[in-house]
Amino acid sequence: MEREKFSSRLGFILISAGCAIGLGNVWRFPYITGKYGGAAFVLIYLFFLIVMGLPIMVMEFAVGRASQKSIATSFNVLEKKGSKWHIYRYFGMAGNYLLMMFYTTIGGWMLAYFVKMVKGDFKGLDASGVEQAFGSLTTDLGTMLFWMLLVVVIGFVICSLGLQSGVERITKGMMVILLFLMIVLAVNSCLLPGASEGLEFYLKPDFKKLTEYGLSEVIFAAMGQAFFTLSLGIGALAIFGSYIGKERKLTGEAVNILVLDTFVALTAGLIIFPACSAFGVDPGEGPGLVFVTLPNVFNNMKGGRLWGSLFFLFMTFAALSTIIAVFQNIISFAQDLWNWSLKKAVLINGIAIAILSLPCIFGMTIWSDFSILGKSILDFEDFLVSNNMLPLGSLVYLLFCVTRYGWGWKNFLKEANTGEGVSFPEKIKVYLTFILPLIVLYIFVQGYVSLFKSL
Ligand code: TRP
Repeated sequence: MEREKFSSRLGFILISAGCAIGLGNVWRFPYITGKYGGAAFVLIYLFFLIVMGLPIMVMEFAVGRASQKSIATSFNVLEKKGSKWHIYRYFGMAGNYLLMMFYTTIGGWMLAYFVKMVKGDFKGLDASGVEQAFGSLTTDLGTMLFWMLLVVVIGFVICSLGLQSGVERITKGMMVILLFLMIVLAVNSCLLPGASEGLEFYLKPDFKKLTEYGLSEVIFAAMGQAFFTLSLGIGALAIFGSYIGKERKLTGEAVNILVLDTFVALTAGLIIFPACSAFGVDPGEGPGLVFVTLPNVFNNMKGGRLWGSLFFLFMTFAALSTIIAVFQNIISFAQDLWNWSLKKAVLINGIAIAILSLPCIFGMTIWSDFSILGKSILDFEDFLVSNNMLPLGSLVYLLFCVTRYGWGWKNFLKEANTGEGVSFPEKIKVYLTFILPLIVLYIFVQGYVSLFKSL
């Protein structure tokens, strides 16, 4: 059967951007930036996006486009006979499932908050009431199950409509609405009285703040965020490379996606930080920033119910577009490996993901005493993906493309540079072969150093 392709270049860019733009941009980026002191952190993050994220993104697209396969079989197609690169496929596939095992739950919270905002559930609650509302959501088994399952069903139903008429059409629409909503929200935030303090915190670098946490911890956080936000290392982007033709060089396309992703992350900050300073709340409080701090802000804002609803609609679209993209990848594994029909792949994976998402929810409710390496199940799953699969997987893609033991530099370069547009800079080969792998390895090791320090 002929492999279905995207109907347009815009579709490819918006879906890849939809995969990249997710909770990492709208939830993780603002609270990490808040924690590590604002603008100076943002600069370091941007630096790593470009020197580390961009080349690896091009490599993923190249492997996908050249092999015309998902990570389940792409290495088999491209590797030299007798080599073992394809073993990574098991980790890569597992990474996609693992990511979804907690992502669906948090996506469910976003959807739940959108509905709560629309219904006006937060009206009249004081700060501790809002905090309690979040606390009761994240300890209520039935409610979390409901929202998680709803997210899983929405995602798989959209994928079941097919690549062009489901994934491409619907994600495109969501992304356009998302970009529009975001601009409206940012303008509204920046016009609030008292916004300027938040803007200053966010945009004016204060390098003294970096030393508060220690430079190496800040750099580590920035690098981790760069991997996570771009969706690198587990073939989540490679799949979309397999759905495009050879009309364009890949570097230019990767730049487009990186720019969109960065634009959304930076704008999420423009929405959140001015609103925090306008209402005198601390942006450095961590993961609860979006769920606890912001509903308070909306409670105090004129027209807050409307703005709050729009904000959580924006959050929900960001999460859903990522979930749809990863589901599409997961569905394609079974299609590539065993030639399953779309229907069968959707049905079986839908059930599998619903079941696999249970431990994360149980970890917050009926298994809340249980911990692994001092972490809750959610944090442990996040640790496995973010600190292990993403850096190690990126290293695999990197070495596969630059060394002659893998696919090799020449083949990679030829694929990346087929078509019109910006070429991949050949001169950086030495950097890619000898320096970047060490940086990536450093992230992996540092993840364990911080883990053991925290035990
Ligand atoms: N980039 C997404 C976000 O920012 C998360 C994500 C989706 C991801 N697919 C991935 C991260 C693959 C790493 C690998 O929310």
